[in-house]
Amino acid sequence: MRIAVIGSGYVGLVTGACFADLGHQVVLVDIDQAKLAALQRGEVPIHEHFLSELLTRHRDSRLQFSSNLQKAVKECAAVFIAVGTPPTDRGEADLSYVESVARAICGAIGDYKVIVEKSTVPVYTSDWIRKIVARNGTRAEHFDVASNPEFLREGSAVSDFMYPDRIVVGVETERCAAVMQEIYAPLTEGHYYKTAGAIPAPDGAQIPPRLIVTSTKSAELIKHASNAFLAMKISFINAVASICESVGADVQQVCQGVGTDRRIGPRFLSPGIGYGGSCFPKDLMAFRSVARECGYEFGLLDEVMRINEQQRGRFLRKVREALWTLRDKRLAVLGLAFKGGTDDIRESPAILLIQELLHEGCHVTAYDPAAMDRAKEVLPATVEFASSAYDAARDADALLILTEWEEFASLDLPRLRQQLKDAIVLDGRNLYDPAVMAAQGFTYYSVGRPTVIAEAYVAGRSEGKTPR
Ligand code: UGA
Repeated sequence: MRIAVIGSGYVGLVTGACFADLGHQVVLVDIDQAKLAALQRGEVPIHEHFLSELLTRHRDSRLQFSSNLQKAVKECAAVFIAVGTPPTDRGEADLSYVESVARAICGAIGDYKVIVEKSTVPVYTSDWIRKIVARNGTRAEHFDVASNPEFLREGSAVSDFMYPDRIVVGVETERCAAVMQEIYAPLTEGHYYKTAGAIPAPDGAQIPPRLIVTSTKSAELIKHASNAFLAMKISFINAVASICESVGADVQQVCQGVGTDRRIGPRFLSPGIGYGGSCFPKDLMAFRSVARECGYEFGLLDEVMRINEQQRGRFLRKVREALWTLRDKRLAVLGLAFKGGTDDIRESPAILLIQELLHEGCHVTAYDPAAMDRAKEVLPATVEFASSAYDAARDADALLILTEWEEFASLDLPRLRQQLKDAIVLDGRNLYDPAVMAAQGFTYYSVGRPTVIAEAYVAGRSEGKTPR
């Protein structure tokens, strides 16, 4: 099928590249000429596993880049709108880009087209797109509007696209449903998985995935409700972690006990320093606003957001507990991205924490495998950047782990201890076993688990020695 994807941001780029890999003819449209030229030259603007491979595979064959929206729409059977929906000052989603695309495509709709909203949008957006297109003179039988929310996680977006838990399509007519089914048939009928060069299946992939057909409003709500529920799971376990700290229980044991109940499940139950990123914080606020506008006070979401904010404050208190005063303390910080596997620092709890630590007068040396260039743009020049975790740790009063990168979970602990001035680790992502850390000579703080004191320190104290 010929498909136009409007917007070559994170969602549009991944969607376009993946559709091309499914065998469709895709034209990716953007108004940003510089971005299009960079894509054409083979540059990949985001850090995403398999994306570069797919772009190289399909560039100039099944995947074209264009700034000519009208031409792209005329030539395609389906038009996916994947432009940004940034939050307004009031926390609502700003839909002006969606609206302007809806207006712009009207003139190009000659024969039947399906207009698909792919951006994360509040309920009723599909109704608005329908109204705008109709008001601009397009006959009702010449178009349908579908909602096809994405459930892509940054860092694994291509795998998530090819091996989804489910594909949700919200439609109002049979004709539109048939087009959407045809687009996803290579996945739902399983042909894609047999092709040479198919993206490898992650563990536990459900093949073929299920296609869930709903009304457009239900599909819109599925997206917001899914993200809100996942964020709620994280805040819930973070709240439980706080109780664990008060009573001396171990949140990892609690998670295991709770998560093995299949009705609950173990995923998104990792406690930490709170969720961040470009989706959860924005989508929760938008969902909250949508609910209010519909006359429902969704106070539960306020609480989810409040716990998330508090989580950083709790971590900061641990830093104080470990170091007493903070002014002029040298801190090594591992992790700047909002989660492992990405260079994205939007709403990153790591960045927010660093800003608070700087405000308290700390000196910060940071290291992140991918996000340092982006972090340099937002952090003050006083922050130093290191070339490795060990380099960051040199002569630091304590080491803070703020992002769950795999690299940070397998550090050479004796080497790390040698680098630090004081062998103190504050782990905001629970990457290590406290008993191992104590045995390796660290004083180790984590989330929802008892703090352990370095065994050497305990031994040294009984012998009247001061540990290094
Ligand atoms: C999230 C959703 O997981 C996707 O399904 C959705 O499509 C996407 O938002 C979106 O709306 O576009 P993403 O923002 O890439 O994806 O990141 P997640 O992997 O969900 O992580 C979000 C945050 O929660 C990160 O800061 C992460 O560190 C934190 N997190 C996640 C936890 O603190 N604990 C967990 O157990 C899981």
